[in-house]
Amino acid sequence: MSDANSPSVPSSASRRDFLKNSTAAVVGGSLAATLVAPAAVHAAGSDVLKVGLIGCGGRGMGAAVNAMNAEENVKLTVLADAFPDQIKHARDVLSKQIGARFAVDNEHCFDGFDAYKKVMASDVDVVLLCTPPHFRPAQLRAAIEAGKHVFCEKPVAVDGPGVRHVLESSRLAKEKKLSLVSGLCWRYDLGVRETIQRIQDGAIGDIVAIQENYLTGTLWHRGRQPNWSEMEYQMRNWLYFTWLSGDHIVEQHIHSLDKAVWLNGDKAPVRCFGLGGRQVRTDKQWGNAYDHFAVCYEWDNNVKCFSYTRQMSDCGNDVDDYILGSKGQAALLRHTIKGASDWRYRGPKPSMYDVEHKELFAGIRSGNIINNGEYMSHSTLMAIMGREACYTGQTITSEQMLNSPVVLGPEKYEFGDIKIPEIAMPGITKFA
Ligand SMILES: NC(=O)c1ccc[n+]([C@@H]2O[C@H](COP(=O)([O-])OP(=O)(O)OC[C@H]3O[C@@H](n4cnc5c(N)ncnc54)[C@H](O)[C@@H]3O)[C@@H](O)[C@H]2O)c1
Repeated sequence: MSDANSPSVPSSASRRDFLKNSTAAVVGGSLAATLVAPAAVHAAGSDVLKVGLIGCGGRGMGAAVNAMNAEENVKLTVLADAFPDQIKHARDVLSKQIGARFAVDNEHCFDGFDAYKKVMASDVDVVLLCTPPHFRPAQLRAAIEAGKHVFCEKPVAVDGPGVRHVLESSRLAKEKKLSLVSGLCWRYDLGVRETIQRIQDGAIGDIVAIQENYLTGTLWHRGRQPNWSEMEYQMRNWLYFTWLSGDHIVEQHIHSLDKAVWLNGDKAPVRCFGLGGRQVRTDKQWGNAYDHFAVCYEWDNNVKCFSYTRQMSDCGNDVDDYILGSKGQAALLRHTIKGASDWRYRGPKPSMYDVEHKELFAGIRSGNIINNGEYMSHSTLMAIMGREACYTGQTITSEQMLNSPVVLGPEKYEFGDIKIPEIAMPGITKFA
C-alpha cells in the first residue's frame, strides 16, 4: 500500500472513458458487447460466499458486519479504499468485530482510485459498494461485468449520465442473473413494508399528497491537513461537494424521496420546482453544498410530494413520511395509519441493515435473484432533479434531468489541485 498522506500516483481512470460509456448507455449500443458468459449465478447451500468491501468508511464497515450477521457461511476476504489509512482502520475494527470470518490478508488490501478493479479481478462472490456516491456508476458496472453480486449503497449517482449508466448496469445484472440489492434500507424495514402494503391495499383511499420531512442536525467535517491536496481534501470531506455527494438532498434526503417513489409504483415524478440555499453553512469549509431544500414534486396522475430537508443545528427536527389519502392518513416511520380504522405496526423489528443482507444471500443461494436497480435509479433521479430545480430556480422535468449531458467532477482522478466548485445561485445558475 502507498503512504496514506501522499497518495501521489495518478490514477489511470479517465473521466472521458466514463463519459463515453455513459453516452453509449443512452443510445443502448454497447450493452450486447459487454455481455459475457453467464456468471456462476448462485452458490450451493453449503458454499462459503466470499465478500469484498469497497469503501472502508463508517457505512462500509457497518455493511460488512451486517453481511456477517446475515449468514454464518460468509467471509470477508478483500478490502479496498482510496486511502490506505482507511483500510488499516477497517482491518483493526473488523478483525475484532467479526473474528474468524475476517479473512483478509495483506495481498487482498487494495488502495487508490483503481482499487475496485482489483476487487473485481479477485474471487469474491459479492461486493459491497460503499464509497461516496460519485464513484458508484463506474464501480457498479465493473462489478456486474465481472459477474459479482452486489450490495450497493444509496444514492447511486450524482448526475444524469450516472443515473443512465446505473439503469444500464441494472438491466445487465438481470441478464446475467446477478443480485443487485440497494442500500435504500427502509425498503427492508418490516414495519415500513407493512405500512406501505396496507396503503397500497387501500387503507387510506387514494393517495392525494405526500409530505417528506428530513429535518435534522449537522454531520461530520474532517478538517484539512497541510499535506492534503485539494483533491484529497474534497474526497475526505465529500459530503460538502456536489460532484461527490450530490448534495444532502441526494445523499440523505433520498431515504425520504425513495418512499414517495415506492408509493408511486417505483416511478420518478415528472416535474418539480423548489427553493433552497445555504444560510448557516456559509464558510468555504462547507464546499458548495446547500443547507436546506424545499421541493414540490408532481407525478403524471397529479399526486404531489412536498419535501423538506434541512441540516442545521438547534432547529426543530423531524424525520418522517406523511401520506395524505382520500380516506385517511399515514406516517411511515411511526408505522401508523388513521383511516376507516386505526392501525399501528406491532410486529418484529429486526435490523433493516441485516435484513438487506439476509435477503441478498438467500436470493443468491436460491437463484431467486433480487434486482433493486430500477427504483434506486428513479429515487436518485428524483433527488437530483430536486437539487437542480433549487440550484437554478427553474422547473425541471425528469426527462430533462435523465437526458442531461453534464457529468459532475474532475476530468481525471488524481491527487493534486482541482477546481473549488462554485456555489449555485438560483436565477443565475443555468440548467444544462
Ligand atoms: N443506508 C444508510 O443508512 C447509509 C448511512 C450512511 C452512509 N450511507 C452511504 O454510504 C456511502 C458511504 O458513506 P460513509 O458514511 O461510509 O462515508 P465515509 O466517508 O465514512 O466512507 C467512505 C469511504 O470510501 C472511501 N473512498 C472514497 N472514494 C473512493 C474510491 N474512489 N474508491 C474506493 N474508496 C473510496 C473513503 O476513503 C472512505 O473510507 C455513501 O453513499 C452514503 O450515502 C448510507
